[in-house]
Amino acid sequence: MDSKYNLIGNNKLNITKFKIKPKPTPVLFSKKNGPPSPKKIKLNENESNKSSYMNGNNKFKISIQEQRTKLPVYDKKNKLLDLIRRNNTLIIMGETGSGKTTQIPQYINAAKLQNEGRIGITQPRRVAAVSIAMRVAQEYGNGQQVGDTVGYTVRFEDVTSKRTKIKYLTDGMLLREAMFDSLLMEYTVIILDEAHERTIHTDVLFGIVKTAQKVREAKNFAPLKILIMSATMDVDHFSKYFNDCQAVYLEGRTYPVNIFHTVRPHDDYQTACVATFFKIHREAPANQDVLIFLTGQEEIEAVAHQIRLLGKDPEVEGPPIRVCTLYAAQPSTQQMSVFNPSPENMRKVIVSTNIAETSVTITGIKYIIDCGMVKARTYHPATGLELLKVQRISQEQAWQRTGRAGRESEGTCYRLYTRSQFEMMQKSTIPEIQRANLTSVALQLLALDIHALFFDFMDKPPEDAITAAFEQLKLLGAIDSVESTALTPLGEQMVKFPLDPRFSKILLSAHNFGCLEEVLTVVSLLSVESILLSPPNKKEQANSVRQKFFSAFGDHVTLLNIYREFSNVGQNMRGWCHEHYINMRNILQAREVRCQLEDICRKSGMTISSCGSQMDQVRKCLLTGLFMNVAELHRDRQYITLDKRQVVSIHPSSVLHGQQPHFILFTEVVQTTKCYLRLLSTVDSDWLYEIAPDYMRTHSIKCTKDS
Ligand code: CDP
Ligand code: MG
Repeated sequence: MDSKYNLIGNNKLNITKFKIKPKPTPVLFSKKNGPPSPKKIKLNENESNKSSYMNGNNKFKISIQEQRTKLPVYDKKNKLLDLIRRNNTLIIMGETGSGKTTQIPQYINAAKLQNEGRIGITQPRRVAAVSIAMRVAQEYGNGQQVGDTVGYTVRFEDVTSKRTKIKYLTDGMLLREAMFDSLLMEYTVIILDEAHERTIHTDVLFGIVKTAQKVREAKNFAPLKILIMSATMDVDHFSKYFNDCQAVYLEGRTYPVNIFHTVRPHDDYQTACVATFFKIHREAPANQDVLIFLTGQEEIEAVAHQIRLLGKDPEVEGPPIRVCTLYAAQPSTQQMSVFNPSPENMRKVIVSTNIAETSVTITGIKYIIDCGMVKARTYHPATGLELLKVQRISQEQAWQRTGRAGRESEGTCYRLYTRSQFEMMQKSTIPEIQRANLTSVALQLLALDIHALFFDFMDKPPEDAITAAFEQLKLLGAIDSVESTALTPLGEQMVKFPLDPRFSKILLSAHNFGCLEEVLTVVSLLSVESILLSPPNKKEQANSVRQKFFSAFGDHVTLLNIYREFSNVGQNMRGWCHEHYINMRNILQAREVRCQLEDICRKSGMTISSCGSQMDQVRKCLLTGLFMNVAELHRDRQYITLDKRQVVSIHPSSVLHGQQPHFILFTEVVQTTKCYLRLLSTVDSDWLYEIAPDYMRTHSIKCTKDS
């Protein structure tokens, strides 16, 4: 392998130029650059003689049952079962892809260790819960469908039945279930998987299952077995929290991975991804697949599009390319296609979010391209802003990504960052609970009669974040005072919705404004990934055809207009979505979410009334939950948030971009070069005093309307 090579393309990859004549540019990777030899993923000597079973062309020839017996976890089956039998709590660590998630629940079920109860396995992401359940049902064979022995439950979707023994679910779902039954009596075995990710929900579940286990034992109820599974993690820390429980390490089969860093930093990592992919594509034999790590749907679709486009160019050397994408908002069938081996003489490239880091394993991967970034939600109690921010990954994540290339044989990883950038990354990822808005968690814990300040967290969140959460709950009317351990009747209603408390509040306020019909739609559309498609080369076209939906009131009403027309198109849904650049699967998902939210509303005795064309009602209603998200235009033409006086700007994707309404309500903040507000509505300052009088006592506005 060359230690250096030139890449095709430059920072602004110009497709046309590329098509005519690929020009070498000074984009370089180096292994030698910087300190010596990168860490290699070690080969497990004991297993080196075994065939690299799914490697290259052999991968089509092995039956699904045979595949199971080749997994590293298979040899340890009896030992594992024995340990599980003997321990009420057990930590199981193992390399990604060793078979923990798919096999261990099946072993437990075969040995009937769960007795009369169910085995619940949590996943931080819905994509993983769904795709793994499908895979495991397939492994059961005998015409078993998902929802029979194996099922899954994710927000807004429950595919289980009375027959279900093994239930994959998101950690958020299990937490919701805990609110209705804190002892989780449905389960006799709970596996908290991907524990190293330390998502906020998993962290809260640690405490919940620990208590449930203790209480069940004290009350002589069916015992609860707890398994904590993860890739690599700080075992001591985990073990100590779980009363010094035992930990077992499953050695996986891994092979060395060659690692390359770029010689200089690349801010435009999307372009660098495409260029690096084609460099690999020209040189590597077919059937050596490539996995690209990017941060989110938009980016992934853009890069996938470019690769598809360039791949069709007759001048581009290499085998035919099959491009797959993997991100949260995809429908399950499409997600599953990622796992299908491609026909011989083809190259599969998977463009994925960090989901492919540890939660799902795809066979046949020989090359990794790691952009070095991840999209994460961060909350700053001091500024009161919760940001969706693309940020650097941790070194731990970088190693996980790298390791994906060495599963079946030696691999290569191209890191689109320099060695010194790598060295500046944080060693490990900070638990989400220490960097997220805790309002939802505080509310959920209150529903369990627990005050977040006194909860047994593995790592305590900062106290000011907890205080801020209680202040928000008070302003939303879910509690009477910040010391309160009891919910108000409104708070109890809020808990019924699988939503952020602010959005539950909006739905619950709708009867005051007679617009539940409309806000159900808006909240549903905000609960899914964007329904608006803006292909990079057709942005203007998309905007012009959607112009008729645009509302001077902002994005929420615009979305509502789109949904209203969509609901009336009848048969030709696909054609209509195509014509208007609407992401059909996302809008269909929003429709599904809407049905379920409507169902909860009806069950709570709410009337579904419509305000017709009175959009003031909708915007006022939105303000009941989002009054803390208002920005005001100042004399210097700058927007400043009322809450913590942050300077912010309107995101270019907003229909209000280029206009300067006095007051805007925002749904989301994204930080790139600046703090941008997304999904906006214009609001009237008088409404603020009318709707959130308590809040406005401490948050005065600076300008008068006429200034
Ligand atoms: O949990 P862990 O990372 O240890 O491994 P796993 O998710 O149980 O995956 C075990 C094996 O099943 C891997 O080799 C995957 O390639 C395979 N698998 C698959 O082929 N299709 C899926 N949908 C899920 C897993
Ligand atoms: Mg797993």
